[in-house]
Amino acid sequence: VLLTRTYNAWMAKEGFIPGESRILYGGTLFGDEERQAIESVLERNWWGLSTENQAFEKELAETLGVKHAVFANSGSSALDISIRALDLEPGSEVIVPACTFPTPVASIINNQLEPVVVDVEPGNYFLNPDILERSITDKTKAILVVYAAGAIGDLGRVLEIAQEHNLSVIEDNCDGLGGSWNGKPLGTFGEFSAISTHAAHIISTGEGGVVFTDNDKLAAVATAIRDWGRHLNYEQQNVDHSEFPPEYARYIYTSLGSNFKPLELQAAMGRVQLRRLPEFLEARERNFQVLNEKLFPFSDRLILPQSHPNARSCWYTYPITLRHGSRTEVLGALDRANIEWRPILAGNIARQPAYKSLVTCREATPFADKMIHDSFWVSLHPQHSVEVMEFVADTLINAIR
Ligand SMILES: Cc1ncc(COP(=O)(O)O)c(C=O)c1O
Repeated sequence: VLLTRTYNAWMAKEGFIPGESRILYGGTLFGDEERQAIESVLERNWWGLSTENQAFEKELAETLGVKHAVFANSGSSALDISIRALDLEPGSEVIVPACTFPTPVASIINNQLEPVVVDVEPGNYFLNPDILERSITDKTKAILVVYAAGAIGDLGRVLEIAQEHNLSVIEDNCDGLGGSWNGKPLGTFGEFSAISTHAAHIISTGEGGVVFTDNDKLAAVATAIRDWGRHLNYEQQNVDHSEFPPEYARYIYTSLGSNFKPLELQAAMGRVQLRRLPEFLEARERNFQVLNEKLFPFSDRLILPQSHPNARSCWYTYPITLRHGSRTEVLGALDRANIEWRPILAGNIARQPAYKSLVTCREATPFADKMIHDSFWVSLHPQHSVEVMEFVADTLINAIR
């Protein structure tokens, strides 16, 4: 049974009342199994990461088919850890899509690296590979790939370009867990990938995020960065600690760290959510198809989401860009119908106040500029029934007619 507090309370009492029932953007699906898992940790009165987390990290790594997973307290932290752990030379350039969540770009800047912004493509909101290739210089060392809403563009070409120019790849897979490229799961292509387990995301621990990597050394560094910079198996990192006597064994700081640790009870809850992943993916796919089939006849007015033919997306949300017409009117209609919507990530990161003087654009970003005015997304959250999704589609259709 899929449950969230508010949603479930009124659904149980009233059923879905179109226009009156609020159609939430996100919310943690929280049932008896999650409650029991959390309670069993509470009974032990143990808060710090322990056996549940060890099991959760192992199960996460197995789910993706990579060697290591490091559970952190948010997707932003997971990306920050990844960017720090790559340890690129200061002044190196990192290519980022214009349509991105802001925090990884802040991490790039805070690590004395230079973000170079590349426009994204209509419909898949993914790095435009031609502009990406033209934006590379001798200083370019890495690419941040973002699957906004779970959409996937020409990942194959981006990976080829990365290989040709010897660039590291970090996959911001916060929105895309469950998707794949040529049958291989997203999050397995870069040196690092990250998911978010925030309440709106594919699996939820309330707040949280995970770093994935196949590289043993990078995994040890990522764990140390999460855990105050210390690593209990510092030999794994091959660091010289000869100046410290054995009493310091638990206090050898091998990395410039932070405290990015989640709670053990979040790990316990995450294990239950991971088991429910197939159920969540199926409901999201169903909800995507309901909207897509109803909106398809209006493709002359709406740019609908579409991933590359070699990709299979798990859609986190349903992103829409108006080809023409007033977004204010469409969003007003959604508001009146009690349907929550959001802008698509930061719109164009190169225009955001904190970033605009700190990023470089080698070419114009016309589509991301359009997104600021004409794009939005609505929820495909598994808590929403077919009836709810049909109401969302009909509301959109009436607003653009
Ligand atoms: C694409 C993307 N990256 C990163 C994040 C940050 O994740 P968190 O909210 O867990 O810090 C989000 C959050 O919504 C996101 O959508």
